[in-house]
Amino acid sequence: MTNHQITIALTKGRIEKDTVTLLEKAGFDMAFMADKGRNLIFESPDKKFRFLLVKAPDVTTYVRHGVADIGVVGKDVLMEHPTGYLEMLDLNFGLCKFSVASTDDYEPNDHKRKRIATKYPTVATDFFNERGEDVEIISIQGSVEIAPVIGLADAIVDIVETGSTLVANGLKVYEDICRISARLIVNKAALKNNPQVLPFIRKIESIVGNEEVPFQ
Ligand code: PRP
Repeated sequence: MTNHQITIALTKGRIEKDTVTLLEKAGFDMAFMADKGRNLIFESPDKKFRFLLVKAPDVTTYVRHGVADIGVVGKDVLMEHPTGYLEMLDLNFGLCKFSVASTDDYEPNDHKRKRIATKYPTVATDFFNERGEDVEIISIQGSVEIAPVIGLADAIVDIVETGSTLVANGLKVYEDICRISARLIVNKAALKNNPQVLPFIRKIESIVGNEEVPFQ
């Protein structure tokens, strides 16, 4: 196998596009990723970089196993899968937030044990446990907004970006949990053993800066 200097696992979709734009700003020629087709592995012509396009939760898996040196993925995924890598940079794109949302008749201060539907059981459990509330978590794979409407759950914990999915399904935000953005993560051994990795991260850091862009 070719000795690739840096392998980067990217979250397919918007994060991937924003990452390519960021790398172009940092001076890298990313033309080789322009005509993607159905390809999932891309190598730069100078063989210095290899990109893997994968689903968000799998980015942490590739980095944890060391087959990718670096990963770019949303903080939402990192909060759900918090171990096996180092989080290095807030890339300040892919901005959104975690919120608790429900229908108009939801009573957040009700003392009965709440049923919370979510794609993020760890985030939801931690949030309610930190405020001393034991809740029943109902794990859902997607279209979570249906759950309170149809009576499966009292509320949801989910990502809100524009808020239009909530509005379209008759839900509103009751509480914001935290800001989410894309993050750069690294495999610990790669950071130590691959001399190309830290200079690459420093280069990206010089473009994104240290200031956190707030989610409006
Ligand atoms: C995410 C999230 C919300 C929606 C929020 O879902 O789970 O449903 O986006 O975006 P908005 O605030 O701009 O409306 P995604 O598109 O990933 O689909 P999914 O529900 O199938 O997971």
